[in-house]
Amino acid sequence: MEMKLAARMEAFGASVFSELAAHKKSKLSEGYEMIDLSIGSPDLPPPSFVRETLAFYASQPDTYGYPIAGTSEFHEAVAYYYRTSHGVSLHPDEEVVCLMGSQDGLVHLPMAFANPGDVILVPDPGYPAYAAGIAMAQAEAYLMPLRKENGFLPDLHAIPEDVAKRAVMMIINFPGNPVPALATESFFREVVAFAKRYDILVVSDFAYSELYYDCHKPISFLAIPEAKTVGVEINSLSKSYNMAGCRIGYACGNADIIRILAKFKSNLDYGVFLPVQKAAIQALTKGAAFCEESRRIYEARRNLLIDGLAEIGWNVERPKASMFVWAEIPKGWTSLSFTYALMDKANVVVTPGEAFGRNGEGFVRMALVQDEKILKQAIQNIKRSGLFS
Ligand SMILES: Cc1ncc(COP(=O)(O)O)c(C=O)c1O
Repeated sequence: MEMKLAARMEAFGASVFSELAAHKKSKLSEGYEMIDLSIGSPDLPPPSFVRETLAFYASQPDTYGYPIAGTSEFHEAVAYYYRTSHGVSLHPDEEVVCLMGSQDGLVHLPMAFANPGDVILVPDPGYPAYAAGIAMAQAEAYLMPLRKENGFLPDLHAIPEDVAKRAVMMIINFPGNPVPALATESFFREVVAFAKRYDILVVSDFAYSELYYDCHKPISFLAIPEAKTVGVEINSLSKSYNMAGCRIGYACGNADIIRILAKFKSNLDYGVFLPVQKAAIQALTKGAAFCEESRRIYEARRNLLIDGLAEIGWNVERPKASMFVWAEIPKGWTSLSFTYALMDKANVVVTPGEAFGRNGEGFVRMALVQDEKILKQAIQNIKRSGLFS
């Protein structure tokens, strides 16, 4: 049978990620021990009280029906987390929707709000799911460059008037992936004013809200005056509580946007498994001390990696937040050629900046997802590779 694909599938070409995974696999099959810093999946477990809650409810016979949507208790836990952690008040029933991970919301919001040809403003470099959602909606991405000289914040003044008028949505992500930048309050205020002026819906991806260092606590977009009139924030339990495989997240904020997203999803899925919701409630209401401990672990890893790389001649900016190091590469390499060199000469796997958009060129991303012993080994391997001598 000759299969005909939908035109929207053309947007999903062979990704750099699968190319790199294949190269890593072939190195492993040749017997090399590879150190993988390429994937942003936490290596540590969720808190024990979260795992115990999940196990308890998974063992109950009456938790296997369709959940349909988020429970009131889950919505209240999100409101509790936002009130206590970010000083934001949310109406649990009207301003929160439960998601199967934040990806669920990020990919589906463009489909719910953009028509083919509408513009969606996205950071470049940016998390690849934004492009996937835009492609599914057959909308058009307008890339907002994140440049070092601008503190890795988009320059809203550089967006042409005609593009701003055609834009229906702006996606922002602070602390970001792959660029671990933090937004300032004045930048967020500018975003609110811009969104109001052009009638643009703002989606703030806050997946790394709990991962920050040296007291640089990230600001929630919803804490900005009038933010709720223009947008929503999407958050996740994947990184804050190491629940990446236990799919749950949420969107919160503007009640109209939340209602439409909930309606869209009611046609796609039957909600998150109840025991997972129960576990997430524990994390959101009792997880503050766990987050504190996680930050300590990531901070120690960050310091070890940044200091170790500096010692061997690779000076990399110390991130203030997120679980990533965004490392400028030596001159004379592309991010892809340097990534292959690190794999072949140092057995270290990173992600080339170009995989996140053209403004990612000149950088590689390293995820702090290995313990200190392995990170020390990675530094040794890079030293021995001769790439910095
Ligand atoms: C910036 C960002 N947003 C969203 C996600 C998706 O997270 P999840 O769907 O697990 O909540 C990720 C995952 O890496 C991410 O880096």
